[in-house]
Amino acid sequence: MDRNQMALSPSENKPRIVSSEERAIQEQYSRSVLELVRLKSSQAQHPFFYYIQTFGCQQNEADSEKLAGMAESMGYLPADSPEQSDLILVNTCAVREHAEKRALSITGQYKHLKDRKPSLIIAVCGCMVSQEKNLEKFRNSCPYVSIVFGTSLLYRFPEILSRYMTENRRLFLSDAGSPGNLAEGIPTRRSSLHSAWVSIMYGCNNFCTYCIVPYVRGRERSRTPESILSEIRDLVQQGYREITLLGQNVNSYGKDLPEQTDFPSLLEQICAIPGDFLLHFMTSHPKDASDRLFDVMASQPKIAKQLHLPVQSGSNRILKAMNRHYTAESYLERIDSLRRRIPNLVLSTDLIVGFPTETEQDFEQTLNLMKQVGFDSVFSFLYSPRKGTPASEMDGQISEEVKRERMKRLLDLQEAVSLSRNEALIGQTLPVLTEGISKSDPSAYTGRTEGGKLVHFPVASGEVLPGSTLQIRITKACPHNLIGEPADKITSPS
Ligand code: SAH
Ligand code: SF4
Ligand code: F3S
Repeated sequence: MDRNQMALSPSENKPRIVSSEERAIQEQYSRSVLELVRLKSSQAQHPFFYYIQTFGCQQNEADSEKLAGMAESMGYLPADSPEQSDLILVNTCAVREHAEKRALSITGQYKHLKDRKPSLIIAVCGCMVSQEKNLEKFRNSCPYVSIVFGTSLLYRFPEILSRYMTENRRLFLSDAGSPGNLAEGIPTRRSSLHSAWVSIMYGCNNFCTYCIVPYVRGRERSRTPESILSEIRDLVQQGYREITLLGQNVNSYGKDLPEQTDFPSLLEQICAIPGDFLLHFMTSHPKDASDRLFDVMASQPKIAKQLHLPVQSGSNRILKAMNRHYTAESYLERIDSLRRRIPNLVLSTDLIVGFPTETEQDFEQTLNLMKQVGFDSVFSFLYSPRKGTPASEMDGQISEEVKRERMKRLLDLQEAVSLSRNEALIGQTLPVLTEGISKSDPSAYTGRTEGGKLVHFPVASGEVLPGSTLQIRITKACPHNLIGEPADKITSPS
């Protein structure tokens, strides 16, 4: 294969569908790596292991499950720790500076593993390295990193690994500026047996002025309804009880497809699949959250009565500068419309604190909006300038000190709001999908309500299978979780 074929031409500005012939080529590469791995591991007299460190959003988690699936098809086994591994993948995130620093620091910690085991392959992929400057950073500052490739090259991982193994020289494959592509049929190794991510679309066209995602994930592209439905049918047949549809803005689903379809229609088709499962989706953009979507959410029992609707700010001036295309008033109107249909809705949001030019008054408008809405939970972020985005060039950048002081006030307010939202559930009996034994208390189990709230409840160990639904009576509320007890006696599965 011509070495330069990896680099994408800048004139190519539309996402591309990966053909079945291209997929077949990757499968050939995968088989040739499998042979090599088998040979090397029989010489070394131990199996070869892979380890994946993932940063960022659920989309990246879903990508890592594909990387894991490809690694396993190539003969690697999942490792318990990086120390045990022969292949380490760092799947990076670029959304805030903090995420980038952590990826660099974790990768740095793997240097000593490479010193101890020179055959170890350390590969870095994901959103961070879809930017040329970061790719160069890894090339120049991390000589122990063998392979770097951006998000649109993920489906070519077998080819990349095969090239590295046969050419035995470091590979830095840039896809900066790529509009992205859409590849079906990549093997996937899911990390849970009862809860599954399903990406329905990739990329983003919104270009919010603070956000790097459209630059590193390419343009919006939707999978066909047929491929999504067939994946979900398979998952339900395998016993998956919870399906989360993923996309940067799921409400834009289908706009790029030739057939007449949209997100609410897709939801209806998914709900028509027979079987007992609960459907979640994220993320929705308020500008496209329609009454039709809300009607479908309200009428379909399989759709969780939960919505993550990032508002980012309560100030219209800031929302305009962010290029969000809605106002605080229209956001509140959308929430009213939704709550009229689903009174017990669980609602969460994202907020950015300290966007350039944010005044005390703008910030207070955000606090007011939070009080008016009463979110169940809030994911709040200090604004982080991302090079290449318009907001990073704006005058009026806010000092870290002011950002932190505002963040503290925001968190204090939300703590109280979340607590009172959770306290309202005390005494109610809710269906809870169990996840397993609680990390903080081995005598308790953890699960999630239909709205995604974390519940801890005591049961003698071995009594409950992860992935089963129990009726739990809520007895106590904390801001970030609920405590409960099984409403009925649990009978052991026979
Ligand atoms: N597509 C989703 C969110 C993707 S990023 C949406 O539109 O809602 C997740 C969250 O990270 C965003 O909602 C935003 O709150 C935050 N974020 C994105 N860029 C940021 C930046 N430069 N600084 C701080 N937070 C940021
Ligand atoms: Fe970023 Fe905005 Fe796209 Fe979300 S909608 S990924 S915040 S540009
Ligand atoms: Fe981060 Fe990329 Fe997701 S930048 S938030 S991992 S799309």
